[in-house]
Amino acid sequence: MVDKSYYNDVSYDDKLIEEIRLSNDLINLAEEYTKLKRSGKSYKGLCPFHEEKTPSFSVDPDKQLYYCFGCGAGGNIYNFVMEIEGMNFPESIKYLADRAGIVLPEKKDNKKYKKRKNKQQKLYEIHNLVTKFYNYLLTEKEIGKQAYQYLKQRDFSDEIIDKFKLGFAPNRWQAVYNFLNKKGYSDQIIEEAGLILPRKSSGYYDRFRGRVMFSICDFRGQTVAFGGRIIEDIDQPKYLNSPETIIYNKSRNLYGLNWAKQSIQQSNQAIIVEGYTDVIRAHQFGVDNVIASLGTALTKEQAKLLKRYADKIYIAYDSDAAGAQATIRGLDILKQAGLQVKVIELPKEQDPDDFISQHGKEKFLDLQSKALSLVDFKLKKIIKGRDLQQIDNKIEVVNNIIKVLAVINNKIELDEYIKQVAEEINISPKILRSELKDYLANKKSSKKSYNKKRANKDNKTKLKERLNENKSSYYHKTVEQLISFMLSNPKVILDVKQELNKEDFREKAYQELITALFKLDLEKNSVDLNQLLQQLESQKAKDILLKESVNNQEQKYNQAIINDYINKIKEYQIGLKLDKLEQKIAKVEQSGDDDRLMDLLQRYEQLLRGEGI
Ligand code: CTP
Ligand code: MN
Repeated sequence: MVDKSYYNDVSYDDKLIEEIRLSNDLINLAEEYTKLKRSGKSYKGLCPFHEEKTPSFSVDPDKQLYYCFGCGAGGNIYNFVMEIEGMNFPESIKYLADRAGIVLPEKKDNKKYKKRKNKQQKLYEIHNLVTKFYNYLLTEKEIGKQAYQYLKQRDFSDEIIDKFKLGFAPNRWQAVYNFLNKKGYSDQIIEEAGLILPRKSSGYYDRFRGRVMFSICDFRGQTVAFGGRIIEDIDQPKYLNSPETIIYNKSRNLYGLNWAKQSIQQSNQAIIVEGYTDVIRAHQFGVDNVIASLGTALTKEQAKLLKRYADKIYIAYDSDAAGAQATIRGLDILKQAGLQVKVIELPKEQDPDDFISQHGKEKFLDLQSKALSLVDFKLKKIIKGRDLQQIDNKIEVVNNIIKVLAVINNKIELDEYIKQVAEEINISPKILRSELKDYLANKKSSKKSYNKKRANKDNKTKLKERLNENKSSYYHKTVEQLISFMLSNPKVILDVKQELNKEDFREKAYQELITALFKLDLEKNSVDLNQLLQQLESQKAKDILLKESVNNQEQKYNQAIINDYINKIKEYQIGLKLDKLEQKIAKVEQSGDDDRLMDLLQRYEQLLRGEGI
C-alpha cells in the first residue's frame, strides 16, 4: 500500500487522492506495459517489473490492486505508477490526475481549484439539461417535427434517437438562452458553455439554430459538447460544433467512445470513421466498435486514449478523405503510438453510413477483412493512376515508394514489400533495394552532418553569449554602423545595394532609411541630409539618421570593413532562418515524417552553404 509518510509532503486532501484513484483504471494502465488476459476474476500477464517467461503478475479489477507472485511487487495504482515510472507520490498524483482529466488544485490557491471545479460542474449540468431540452423539442414538440421527419427519412429509429441523445435546436435567436436563463444560469456561464454568442450591440444569441443536434460525450457518457447539422440545403456550413471549453478538449475526445469502448476492448480493435452519422449507422447495424474523429486529423492524445482499449485500428474514411495528406499524418501518429493501423477501402463517394445502409453489416465486415496495411495503402496511393511508361513518372514514383519503404524495420516484411511492389511497377527488385540503400545512407549522413553542424553553431552562439553580446543588439549595432558608413561615404551605398536588399534590414525604420538611401542620386560625392530627412516619414527613421550623422566622424572607405558588416548582416539573417529550421526539424523528427525531415535537412545544408537565402 502507499506509504503514509508520502502524504506528509502532499497538500492534496485524501478525498481528492481517492477520487483520482477511482477515476483511473489499473487494468488500462497496466495494459500499457504488459499484455493482460482475463483469468477468472482477475487479469494475468507477464510481470512488467521483472523478466519472466510465465505470467505471475495478476491484477484484480474490482479491488484495483496488483501483485506479482514472482517478484513480490504489489499495491494500488499509485504504487504501480511510482514503481514503473520511477515517480514519487506527488508526481504520481499529478500523472494520474492528468490521465483522468482531473485538474489539481494549485497548492497555495485552493480557491481557484474549487472555482474551476465548480464551473466544470455547472457546464456538465448545462450540457445535461440542454441535451434533454433539444431531445424534447425533437421528439415531443411541433417545432421539431421537420427535423424528426428528416431523421426518420434517414432511417434513424426512436431507439437510435434516444440512445445517441439526438435533438433539435429550433431556428430561434434565443431558445437555449431563454431556457437556461430561466433556470438561473448567468450569461457568462452559458457563453462559456459555447451555447451562445455575444451580439455586436449587446445581448446574446444561440449558436445552434435550426439544426439536428448530436451530443458529443466524454468516455463516461456525459455530454460535453454538441454538433449540429442543417436540415435543409441552406447556404451555411453543414455542421457546426461547440468550441473547446473547460470540459471539452477536441484533441482528447473521440466521438462515440462511450458507446463503443466495451466492444473495442472485447474485440481489441476500433474502427475510426469521420462523422456522427457513420458512427450511429454502424451501431444501428450492430458494428459497435466504431468511433469518429469528426472530420479532423487524429492527434497523439487520441492515439494514446485508443491504446488503452485496443491494439488494432481500422480507418474507414471516404476515399477522398483517406488519401488526404492530413489523414495520412494522423495514421502515422497512430502507428507511432504502437497501434496496428489498417485502411478500409470504401467505394468511391461513399461513407460508412452510405455503405452500411446499402449493403449491411456483413458486407462491411468483408471490406474490413480486406483492409490494407498502412504501407500497402500508401504504396497504392503513390502508384494509382500514374503512367509508368513515362520515365519521369517512374522515377518520381520510385522515389516516393522508397520513402515509404524506408520506415519498415522488419527485414522479412521489407523484403516482401520490395518483391511485390517491384513486380507491380515493373522494375527489378535489385534496383529498388539499391535505391533504398542509397536513400537510407544519404539520410543517415544528412542527419549526422546536421547534428555536427548544429553543435558547431551552438558553440559559436555560446561563445557570443559569453562575450555578452546579445544577438539582436549585436545586429542592430552592425546595421547602424553600416548606415553611418553609408552617410559619410556614398560609395558604400553602392556596395550595400549590390549585396543586400531592403528585407535584410529587419526593422521598418531601417528599411525606410535604406530605401531612401538607395534612391539617392549618387553622382554627388556627399549625402544631402536635409533632402534625406524630407523623404523620411517615421520619427524613428529620422532619429536614426540624425543619430548616425551626428556620430559621424570621417570614416575612410575601407572595403574589408564594409564587407565584414555586410556579411554579419547576412549571417544574422541566416542565423534566424537556421534557428527557425532547427525548431521545425525537431518537431518533424518527433512526428516521424521522414519525407519532410529530409527536405528540411536539405534546406538546412543549403542555408549553411549560403544558398537560397
Ligand atoms: N464536419 C464538420 N463541419 C463541416 C463538415 C463536416 O465538423 N462543415 C465534420 C462532422 O463531424 C461530420 C464529419 O466532419 O460528421 C464528416 O463530414 P461529412 O462527410 O461531410 O458529413 P457526414 O458525417 O457524412 O454527415 P451526413 O451523412 O449527414 O451528410
Ligand atoms: Mn454521410
